[in-house]
Amino acid sequence: MALLRDPDVLEPRLADPLNVRWSPRAFDDQHVLEPRQLHLLLEAARWAPSAGNSQPWSFMVGLRGDETFAGFYEHLARGNQAWAGRASALLVAIRQTASGPDHELPFGGYAQYDLGQAAAHLTIQAHALGLHVHQFAGFDHDAVQQRFGVPEHWAVTTGIAVGVAASPDVLDERTREKELLPRTRRPISEFAFSGTWGEAPVDLS
Ligand SMILES: Cc1cc2nc3c(=O)[nH]c(=O)nc-3n(C[C@H](O)[C@H](O)[C@H](O)COP(=O)(O)O)c2cc1C
Repeated sequence: MALLRDPDVLEPRLADPLNVRWSPRAFDDQHVLEPRQLHLLLEAARWAPSAGNSQPWSFMVGLRGDETFAGFYEHLARGNQAWAGRASALLVAIRQTASGPDHELPFGGYAQYDLGQAAAHLTIQAHALGLHVHQFAGFDHDAVQQRFGVPEHWAVTTGIAVGVAASPDVLDERTREKELLPRTRRPISEFAFSGTWGEAPVDLS
């Protein structure tokens, strides 16, 4: 099974495992995440850089079959419910928005950036373990915040599905169509400039 689609978009070759990362919808619903794997994922998030080392992230961790997983799944958008229930773990990624009794927040302006970076590190660690990750924002954020009793100075931000990628055949037709769409990206010339905004960067060839 080709789990890496469209390798052309990854030229020049990226470092491992960036070169095999993508966000599948088809997960193996028999796979069980080992405690050691989960530990490594959270450890990767833990050691991500952050503004002033403020570490403004938290995660609710659900494993398929447990209450946290089911409680989060219940509030997902229908399009995400179509695939996320097969993942081995569903995490809620939460950023700090203000200081509180549990944790100071000296550099709040960067908390969303920092949480994103922690999620990216977790994602890359997952791929290094042979797992796949699919992040998502399509869910009822307020309901999830309430459901898990997340304090006001923390904001539920995204979901992170972790598991082992499976054949697209396990998906319903509509979800399978999305799964098989080519991956595309904006060209570097549209987002990297030098001199003046909009001017091409130095020669990359
Ligand atoms: C903040 C964020 C929100 C996303 N929301 C959803 C979502 O609700 N449903 C979904 O299927 N994918 C979601 N995605 C996945 C993106 O669609 C996916 O990363 C993007 O299309 C690039 O594909 P790739 O990760 O395979 O390279 C989200 C990703 C991020 C980072």
